Amino acid sequence: MAEVIIVPRSAEGGNLVASEIARRIRATPDLVLGLATGSTPLPVYEALRPALAEVDVSGVRGFALDEYVGLDPAHPQSYRSVIAREVVEPLGLDPARIRVPDGRLDGIAHAGEVYEAAIMDAGGIALQILGIGTDGHIGFNEPGSSFASRTRVKTLTEQTRADNARFFASPDEVPMHCITQGLGTILEAGQLVLLAFGRSKAAALAAAVEGPVSASVPGSAIQLHPHVTVVVDEDAAAELTRADYYRYAYANKPTWQGL
Ligand code: PGA
Repeated sequence: MAEVIIVPRSAEGGNLVASEIARRIRATPDLVLGLATGSTPLPVYEALRPALAEVDVSGVRGFALDEYVGLDPAHPQSYRSVIAREVVEPLGLDPARIRVPDGRLDGIAHAGEVYEAAIMDAGGIALQILGIGTDGHIGFNEPGSSFASRTRVKTLTEQTRADNARFFASPDEVPMHCITQGLGTILEAGQLVLLAFGRSKAAALAAAVEGPVSASVPGSAIQLHPHVTVVVDEDAAAELTRADYYRYAYANKPTWQGL
């Protein structure tokens, strides 16, 4: 089962994940990271800045989970721009080693295959950071997505568009389509680190971690992966039925085990 770590606040979760990523980069300087966007991973990226201050990151490679389709790559809310602004620039990563799915309409029919080939050429993603949507999505794999799916174009749910409207001037501006790593793609990463902070994520998080494995809750795909770490604050943990056991297991975790 997934290891579930309940932290008091998102900042502690960010520190925990950042120190593990720093440790992994020191051991493997060309580590391949799977990068998430949205509000959830920000505490990790903030904590990575000091954690990586003395670490050579010139070899680190990265693949974003998803991108909007048809949004100008130069738009401040394109995930290409977001990854550059929130991850690549502050952490001093090499932009040539960081890829984002190409959401431009020109070539969109093959953009998924191109992205899959690039991940394969890199030897696969070693550690994939994930958030979860209020509708249970991971990446932009909306409810009903196949567990075997690969990087492809999807239609965003109205709920996701409403959730993401805060980043845009008006809700209508949120693109209707996206290109996202598939659940099958995500399940091939070496380790999954799923983060959730805040009460609005509690139901989706509990369904993903403890509910039946179902395409109706794409996040439940994590139950099929052998190495998953779920890091949540108290609010996001509110609907977990085995929270006491997770706390007990973490408090008694063997010291030789990493994250
Ligand atoms: P959020 O989005 O981090 O902005 O809440 C999570 C997601 O949609 O996966």
